[in-house]
Formats: sequence, structure tokens, C-alpha cells
Amino acid sequence: MLGLGTLRRIVREIRADVSAARDRDPAARSAGALEILSSWGGVQSLLSHRLAHALHDAGVPVVPMAIAYGSRAVTGVEIHPAASIGDDFFIDHGSGVVIGETAEIGNRVTLYQGVTLGGTGFARGKRHPTVGDNVTVGSGAKLLGPVTVGHGAKIGANTVVIEDVPPNSTVVGNPGHPVKVEGNRVEGPDTDWIHLPDPVADAIKELSERIAELERRLAEARGEEKPDAAVRELRPKKGPSSAGG
Ligand SMILES: CC(C)(COP(=O)(O)OP(=O)(O)OC[C@H]1O[C@@H](n2cnc3c(N)ncnc32)[C@H](O)[C@@H]1OP(=O)(O)O)[C@@H](O)C(=O)NCCC(=O)NCCS
Repeated sequence: MLGLGTLRRIVREIRADVSAARDRDPAARSAGALEILSSWGGVQSLLSHRLAHALHDAGVPVVPMAIAYGSRAVTGVEIHPAASIGDDFFIDHGSGVVIGETAEIGNRVTLYQGVTLGGTGFARGKRHPTVGDNVTVGSGAKLLGPVTVGHGAKIGANTVVIEDVPPNSTVVGNPGHPVKVEGNRVEGPDTDWIHLPDPVADAIKELSERIAELERRLAEARGEEKPDAAVRELRPKKGPSSAGG
């Protein structure tokens, strides 16, 4: 029997799913709740999963997989009933998404169409990704194996992730590699062997500047014209590197 508490929880979850669609899909902003529930495949697949997951946890045989199968036929989204999904989850456009049995997804995660949270090989046990909170996974991205995606990470469209992703980073390419961490670009190896730091030149430059300042003050005190205090560059700071870097 469904208790009042369970019903309240279901209504709360449905409301949250509809508002996640409105927040993250510009096309859903002006759509009514009924329209979203009847036409947004990503929302439908999540509602089916909630039911399948609860039955799976309760040890009900066959039915959870049958629900997942039916949901896949209608929405094109396949979520294994055992997969664990947090609050405010949203799948935009739905179709082609696969979420494996041991996948774990945090809160406020967004997936676009064609994303796979898949396993590698035939080993049993934890073999699917763990995705942190506030993660966005672009269309067609494949996250393979028991990798961990840190909170707030962005996975670019068509990226293939086979290693852990640092929190608050942007990962793109195949194999996926970070191009930004905490908002900063990740620099490659420094191959500029020409413009190396030169402490002697820096010291001479500083002395030249101090002498020029003294000459300027002396000229001012004497009421003379300002001397030419320009400091000659010891060598160019910029320009192409002969190392080709
Ligand atoms: C990765 C993404 C989230 C952008 O994140 P971002 O932190 O703002 O990163 P930037 O746009 O500054 O890009 C950083 C670098 O990665 C590159 N890049 C971005 N997305 C990429 C992708 N999917 N594949 C390969 N390279 C990509 C950029 O060209 C840039 O390269 P540069 O440093 O050489 O200039 C975005 O490009 C993306 O792929 N979003 C998915 C959107 C989607 O799937 N939409 C479907 C709607 S139906």
C-alpha cells in the first residue's frame, strides 16, 4: 500500500524533475508540467527509473528490468534499475543514453543525448563511472569503466573519458584530457628554451631604472630639462622561439 508520505515524496520528485527540465532546457521554459511529462523523453525515463529502482531495491524480480526495457523502447534511454541517481537529474533530448548497472550519479547532473556511462570488459562488481554533483556531460560523450568524475566538471561533446576527471575541470577529446581546471587553462609542456629567466639581466635592468630615476630627480632639483632616461632593452622578451615551441 502506498502511504501518504510515499505519495508526497513522489509528487515532490515529479515537481523537481519538471523544474530541472525547465531550468536546463531553454525549449522547456514555456512548457507546462503536463507537456513536459508527456513529451520529454529524458524526464519520462527518469520517472520510470525511479519506479524500477525502488522495486529493484525491494528485491522484486523481473519487473524492474521489464520497466527499464519498456522505458528504453519509448524514450531511447536505457538505465539499469540498479544504477543510483541523485536529485535534480536531467537528460536533455534523451535518445541514445545508456547508464550501466553500477553507475552512481550525484545531484544536479545533466546528460545530453548519446551519453554512455558504460563498463569495460566482462568483470563483475563496480565497473561503471561515478559522477559527482553539478556535472554536465555533452552529447555523445562516453565515460567508460569505474572512473570518477569530480564535482562541477564539464565533459565536452564526443569526449571519451577513461581516466578520473578532476573537480571543476573541462575535459575534451579522445582520450579525454583536461583543458581547464578551476577555470584556468591547462598549459602544455614549456618548450620555449630561448626566453629563459635571466637574473643578471633583471638585476642590471633594475639598477638602470633606479639610476634613471635618480637622474630625473637631480635634473628636476636643478631645474634642468629631463634627461633621456629610457632603459635600453637587453634583449627582446617576445618573438618566435627558434626551438619551435
Ligand atoms: C566542453 C564545453 C562544455 C565547453 O566548456 P568550457 O569550459 O567553456 O571550454 P571552452 O569552450 O573554453 O573550450 C576549451 C577548449 O576545449 C575545446 N573544446 C571545447 N569543446 C570541445 C569538444 N567537445 N571537443 C573537443 N574540443 C573541445 C575548445 O576549442 C577550447 O580549445 P582551445 O583551448 O584550444 O581554444 C562545450 O564545448 C561542450 O562540448 N558542451 C557540450 C554541449 C552539448 O553537448 N550540447 C548538445 C546540445 S543538443
